[in-house]
Amino acid sequence: MILGIDVGGSGIKGAPVDLVTGALAEQRHREPTPHRSDVARVVATVRRVAEHFGPAERVGVTFPSVVVGGVTKTAANVDRSWIDAPAAELLSAALDRPVTVVNDADAAGIAEMTYGAGRGRRGTVIMLTFGTGIGSAVFLDGRLLPNTELGHLELRGEDAELRASDRAREQHDLGWDKWARRVEEYLRHVESLFQPDLFIIGGGVSKKAEKFFPAIDIRTPMVTAELLNNAGIVGAAIAAHRAAGA
Ligand code: BGC
Repeated sequence: MILGIDVGGSGIKGAPVDLVTGALAEQRHREPTPHRSDVARVVATVRRVAEHFGPAERVGVTFPSVVVGGVTKTAANVDRSWIDAPAAELLSAALDRPVTVVNDADAAGIAEMTYGAGRGRRGTVIMLTFGTGIGSAVFLDGRLLPNTELGHLELRGEDAELRASDRAREQHDLGWDKWARRVEEYLRHVESLFQPDLFIIGGGVSKKAEKFFPAIDIRTPMVTAELLNNAGIVGAAIAAHRAAGA
């Protein structure tokens, strides 16, 4: 059994994953993300989530930052103590078993490419998650180019996620149409850089696709993510499985 844990801005959610079907093998368990999301507090919360379940051989954990060799390198929406933190090492010690750490959008993308909207899709597929920030996962013929961080492309002199994330929609009290204009501008920019064959749109807001999809006019076909809330958990488990060399 492999446990997937998704560290998000508001909650840390986990569940064991059945890697044959991509379904959760048990109901997921959620703990609120500590208000000060520093390394020690988040590690302790991830540990509590893991302890809720029986012993798992391996654990995969998503994190909303660049992750290179198990080290978190950036902290756009989390406490700065995560910059250069040896996350995989710290979590492996706290959970007393091997832990693989992967960028949250990369994990969601891996899950969608394996079991969801991107299954069997070749060519260039870009998954974008719209939430607290904008996360990205870029695939060529099903293989991930990790840590692309397309949410931080510059748009009108600003970090794109500050204009077009779901949090920006809420913070600036934008109506759906106004927000859709910003998302469209952002997608056109990504489209002009990568010429993708498909966009997969994820994050909580993808559940409300009917509110903004019709207002977006771009060249690239665009579909919503299928695994919704569970994409991070499932992708974390797949990443842990792959890291085990299986
Ligand atoms: C972070 C990314 C993350 C995205 C979505 C961005 O601010 O830099 O690493 O994937 O938010 O959570």
